[in-house]
Amino acid sequence: MPNVISVVSGKGGVGKTTFAINLAAALNEFGHNNLLIDADVSNPNMLLMLQIPHVPLTLQDVIRDKVDIEHAIRVHHTGLRIVPTSHAFDNKLDLSKLGEAIETLPETIILDSPPGIDDANIRSILDLSDRVIVVTNPEIPAVTAAAKIIKLAKNLKKTNIGVVLNRIRDDQFELIKDEVEIMCETPIIGTIPEDPAVRRAGFDTLPVVHHSPLAPSTVQYMRLAARLLGKEYSPPKYLSIKRLLAKVRK
Ligand SMILES: Nc1ncnc2c1ncn2[C@@H]1O[C@H](COP(=O)(O)OP(=O)(O)OP(=O)(O)O)[C@@H](O)[C@H]1O
Ligand SMILES: [Mg+2]
Repeated sequence: MPNVISVVSGKGGVGKTTFAINLAAALNEFGHNNLLIDADVSNPNMLLMLQIPHVPLTLQDVIRDKVDIEHAIRVHHTGLRIVPTSHAFDNKLDLSKLGEAIETLPETIILDSPPGIDDANIRSILDLSDRVIVVTNPEIPAVTAAAKIIKLAKNLKKTNIGVVLNRIRDDQFELIKDEVEIMCETPIIGTIPEDPAVRRAGFDTLPVVHHSPLAPSTVQYMRLAARLLGKEYSPPKYLSIKRLLAKVRK
């Protein structure tokens, strides 16, 4: 298991932060310790998405004032461990020192990142990564942006790159898996359906993995976490019974 996993996209709004939070939650379900870092310093929203009210120390304090990162870790009631970033208007935080700040941490680090490919911070994030997960939606603008950030990661000599196809609707208006793989020249390591449970969980400021353990998206987050850990995972049995009943009733 690599130590630093970055979650990047190219295009904004494809589901990076949702993915980072749920991957962390799914890894926890397998008993795998991890730490989420909100490295989207231009528009941090992890605090809002998990409704963490007051944070005395943030990534800003760690990077600027060399506060030990251990002191900035917040433990959410779901067990997620997070280093938050302050929402205060501040787009000058330079992440080139992030590597130094995290180098002594023993656990897997999951870095949520800003969208875009031109930012120096994106390069710093990619540079630090042992594994790069590129989240995209099955639509041309998102996939072309994903292909660009993949190229950037490859230029930085990153080899452990995988695509996660998020918000799949299975209709005729979207790209299929094979097309995305060809456009990105990179394997797809996970697929997550469009799932109202994700938005419901978001409304309740919880990861869907905790909010709706039987939701189709949760099953896919768990599958991917198992894959990354090299572990077996079979979805809960009553899930297939639920699907069978739905078919019989049709
Ligand atoms: N599988 C899914 N099914 C339904 N809605 C989803 C799914 N994944 C993400 N969303 C929704 O998509 C919206 C954007 O998600 P999110 O904020 O995680 O994207 P992002 O890539 O981090 O955005 P940004 O680039 O602005 O940081 C949220 O409202 C989230 O609930
Ligand atoms: Mg985000």
